[in-house]
Amino acid sequence: MRKIHVIGIGAGDPDQLTLQAVRALHDTDVFFVLDKGEVKSDLVRLRQDILEAHVPAGTYRVVRARDPERDRAADGAGYSPAVGDWRNARADVYERLIADELGADGRGAFLVWGDPSLYDSTLGILEEVLARGSVAFAYDVVPGISSVSALVARHRTGLNRVARPVQITTGRRLAEGFPEDVDDVVVMLDAHQVFRRYADQDIDIYWGAYIGTPDEILVSGPIAEAGPRIERLRAQARERKGWVMDTYLLRRRPKEPQEPKG
Ligand SMILES: C[S@@+](CC[C@H](N)C(=O)[O-])C[C@H]1O[C@@H](n2cnc3c(N)ncnc32)[C@H](O)[C@@H]1O
Repeated sequence: MRKIHVIGIGAGDPDQLTLQAVRALHDTDVFFVLDKGEVKSDLVRLRQDILEAHVPAGTYRVVRARDPERDRAADGAGYSPAVGDWRNARADVYERLIADELGADGRGAFLVWGDPSLYDSTLGILEEVLARGSVAFAYDVVPGISSVSALVARHRTGLNRVARPVQITTGRRLAEGFPEDVDDVVVMLDAHQVFRRYADQDIDIYWGAYIGTPDEILVSGPIAEAGPRIERLRAQARERKGWVMDTYLLRRRPKEPQEPKG
């Protein structure tokens, strides 16, 4: 039976590849690389560097395919259908790659940015391909170091405070309001720097862009002070590289204990 490894490769630092990931790399005949076009070719290059560093040349093949474009203009009611269409188109590509490029007992792998459990569609799409029933395969998942773990490690802080919850969400969701009953919120996929709308509150931000790569930028402090600096650095980096990937933790400061009255 065909076998697929879904391998988390960390969020940018090649040293954050786990030993389990390296073992899975060695157990792979064909690596599937989905190319998002020129702008993010750095991300494809990191995958190639990982293969060259860890797997002997001549023992594997790399098959590249073009990642279907998502309709990024779709918003509001159009957002979910646009994502649904894109996932279907991706399932078509995965189905074809697995059926055409892997022999009956072949071993393939998808190298997933960060950890496959976090804002990544690979597992859902593989399940969709299996449900279609046209190609059979087994798959396993190798966890990776996510951008969230990398962010808090670089800021030398934890995600939660003692016995308190932490929430991971998107910029789109944060724009609808600060989550209730949570003081620590990690925000990913935020193209609009939504943290700016909370600048009048007692909230600290721990922000990182291109974490783990030579372009890494880190800024922390109260949003009111750090926010403008983040905006400037982010705009400059985007201009220079053509794309930016950033993640941040928002941490509400504890309220000062009230002086007893009277
Ligand atoms: C599609 S999600 C993939 C997340 C990935 N599976 C993970 O575990 O980190 C892409 C988002 O991850 C975050 N991200 C990924 N790599 C990053 C990095 N090196 N530095 C900062 N943020 C990163 C950004 O918020 C970006 O918008």
